[in-house]
Amino acid sequence: MCRKKKYDGERVKIAIVGCGGMGGYHLGRMSSCGMFDVIGILDIDPAVKAKADKRGIPFFGADELDKLFALPGLQAILIATPNDVHKKYAIAAAEHGLAVLCEKPVTLCCADLQEMLDAAEKNHTLFSVHQNRRWDHDYLCMKKIVENNMIGSVYKIESKVVGCNGIPGSWRKVKSQGGGMIFDWGVHLMDQILLFNQSPITSVKCKTSYVYQEEVDDGFETEITFADGMDVTITIETNCFVKVPRWVIYGMNGTAVINTFNDKDGKVISVISREDKKLKGVQAGNGFTKTMADRSKSTMKVSRLPKINDDGLDLYRNFCRCVLDKTPEKSIITGKQLMRVLKLIEYSFESAEKNEVIKTNF
Ligand SMILES: NC(=O)c1ccc[n+]([C@@H]2O[C@H](COP(=O)([O-])OP(=O)(O)OC[C@H]3O[C@@H](n4cnc5c(N)ncnc54)[C@H](O)[C@@H]3O)[C@@H](O)[C@H]2O)c1
Repeated sequence: MCRKKKYDGERVKIAIVGCGGMGGYHLGRMSSCGMFDVIGILDIDPAVKAKADKRGIPFFGADELDKLFALPGLQAILIATPNDVHKKYAIAAAEHGLAVLCEKPVTLCCADLQEMLDAAEKNHTLFSVHQNRRWDHDYLCMKKIVENNMIGSVYKIESKVVGCNGIPGSWRKVKSQGGGMIFDWGVHLMDQILLFNQSPITSVKCKTSYVYQEEVDDGFETEITFADGMDVTITIETNCFVKVPRWVIYGMNGTAVINTFNDKDGKVISVISREDKKLKGVQAGNGFTKTMADRSKSTMKVSRLPKINDDGLDLYRNFCRCVLDKTPEKSIITGKQLMRVLKLIEYSFESAEKNEVIKTNF
């Protein structure tokens, strides 16, 4: 049970632009959470009209943006189109004085993001981005392990998501539409890590994979070094048929593993006594090792993962409060954060293309 206070504010009148998979997800969630009234849907695909009709929501076609914007009382739009058209709708909405909740990745490059932020600033409108994985229980659990000092000072983190279904859908395979896994999943994992560690990034090394022979990356591995000494590896695979841990966290005094997208499957192992007087060498493969042998149980403590209490609705709550109070500056998703993530994405592409470690300071 999550102990968070139920939202008791006024509902925000919002329209959804692009109502496919994710737009449909928001439609259900926004309607059920009690914070929004979805009063319009726009999509270039006429088949989406049936989705709107089913809920009695007015539908607008590709050339009817002005009509959508003219809906009485409209306060905000949610953009859930393919990635390359986020910018166009975000700027148009800001110019109409509307708040924007944009899907991730916010857009495809830092220069475009700057234009979107400028439009919102000029028109004093809210611009937020659906970086929903900041509230994933596995991520919050990883943070709690570190913040509660459960394994001592953390020097290395592996953040990994794997699947075995390739790149889904059509536009996700098209480079000009912002396809590929760096933009699709990478942006979430990078956003999490950059929020978690705000010290400057001193180097970026990235390798992309093209197993499915598409024009975009179907996986990648980015190694990030922070000025505080922490190394983080972010990996996405779409051709991996076994389960691997979502997180492995290496501390000076222990190791934690979080296996899936929750706070239940995993463990934290901390060292009680560094010296293991009973440590014995063992046969390992075609050899002998003491270095890699299991240590005596009495020298370690095994704990459950810390529990997380969160309903995942803080982003919606914050968005609504900022719209209703007309306080865009109180958005918990900031332009600075978004820019830092896009910079990391740009450096990752550059590193993969040049096959080089890029020295950075941002
Ligand atoms: N935050 C998350 O967890 C999450 C998860 C999935 C997708 N997304 C993001 O949501 C967005 C949409 O992804 P999806 O999986 O729903 O894609 P999708 O293909 O299922 O849906 C996209 C919809 O946009 C419509 N569309 C295309 N071009 C348009 C245009 N120019 N104007 C208006 N409508 C247009 C399509 O007809 C379709 O209905 C992407 O930015 C994606 O990265 C976010």
